This record gives sequence, C-alpha cells and structure tokens, in this order.
Amino acid sequence: MSDNKIAPSILSADFARLGEEVDAVLAAGADWVHFDVMDNHYVPNLTIGPMVCQALRKHGVEAPIDVHLMVEPVDDMIRMFADAGATYITFHPEASRHVDRSLQLIRSLGCKAGLVFNPATGLDVAKYVMDKLDMILLMSVNPGFGGQKFIPATLDKLREARALINASGQEIRLEIDGGVTRDNIAEIAAAGADTFVAGSAIFNADDYGEVVAAMRRELA
Ligand code: DX5
Ligand code: ZN
Repeated sequence: MSDNKIAPSILSADFARLGEEVDAVLAAGADWVHFDVMDNHYVPNLTIGPMVCQALRKHGVEAPIDVHLMVEPVDDMIRMFADAGATYITFHPEASRHVDRSLQLIRSLGCKAGLVFNPATGLDVAKYVMDKLDMILLMSVNPGFGGQKFIPATLDKLREARALINASGQEIRLEIDGGVTRDNIAEIAAAGADTFVAGSAIFNADDYGEVVAAMRRELA
C-alpha cells in the first residue's frame, strides 16, 4: 500500500486552455493540482493568482489544489488563496517575517500548511514548527521556472527531512518539486518523498495518462 501523490504543476500547462488541461491531467490519473504562484519579486517570474484558483474551482475541479507561494510577503496571499479554494498553502520561510504566525494563519483559514525549502536552504526552521506543518516541500531546482534539471544533492536533504518527520511522529507529507521525471521518481521516493510535483515531464508529453501511469509503476 502506498499513499504517494502525483501533483502536476500547471506552470507547464497551456494557460489558454487551463480548465481543459486540468481536467485532462486529473482524468489521466493525477491526484492533486500543483499551483505555482510567482510575483516577480521573490522569484524572477510572474504567473497566476487567486482569481485563477477560484476559476478552477468554479469550473468544477474537486481535487486538492496545492498552492505553492513564491511571493513576498505571504500573509495577504494566504488569505486570498484560502478564500479561492486552496487545499494546501505552502510558502518559503524567508518570505515571511513571522513564519510561525503565517503557518497558524493558514490553518486558521481551514487549509493545510507547509514550508518550502530552496536547494541551498537548511531545514532548521522546520524543527521549531513541526506541530504546525502538514507538508514540507523541498525544491530540487531553484524556484521560478519549469523545465530545469533535478539537483542531486536534494536526495540527501530528502533523507534528512524524512528522518525529521519520522522523529516528530506528526503526519507531515514530504513533497518534492523540480525536475521530477519517470526516470528519477523511484530514486526520489526511495529517499523519502511521498508527494511528487511534475510540470514539464507531464505537460510536455502527448499522452498525460501514459506518463502518470509510468510514474505510478515506478512508485509501486
Ligand atoms: C518551479 C516550480 C515548479 C515547476 C516544476 O519554481 O515551483 O513547480 O513548475 O516544473 P518541472 O517539473 O518542469 O521542473
Ligand atoms: Zn512549485
């Protein structure tokens, strides 16, 4: 039995047909929708905001929406995405002055809370807020763009995060984001991840179902 989740990043979807793209990837067997929010301030790129999240809910998307905030500051966006139907809201600790408070804010609005760690950022902050986390997300590329290569040092960091989670006794998902493909997903799972974001590997394929099924076979 496994509780692995595959979360396609819509960053690599065709934005002109976003509703159809999300329907297609969920019909193809994906579990969650990973929703990348970039503000051209915390990261050098600009994407989509709460109105698009709300539009997906209105369109009929019932799957969990996993909102990855790459914005600074975070609290206003947390409120807006909670209103817009987000399931998970994760943010980068360096983008909030008061990490503990922002985590509490997410849960107080009925969403699940998570912290995101860039490739060169240590996990120290997480230790002090384990009881306020539903997810730890490790970036395996530098945030801002899809289609980059997986940074191998992330595998050791996954093992570190897995040990931290297991020692805490809390139910915390361990998500990986960046450069995940059918070729490396098994190794990433073996290092401790249980939630897999994949953007270009899925949306650049002709047959989403074929890629999602191949990833699941690798995870089995
Ligand atoms: C990068 C984003 C990722 C990205 C992943 O800042 O957080 O979610 O879309 O894309 P791939 O899977 O193509 O690396
Ligand atoms: Zn992301």
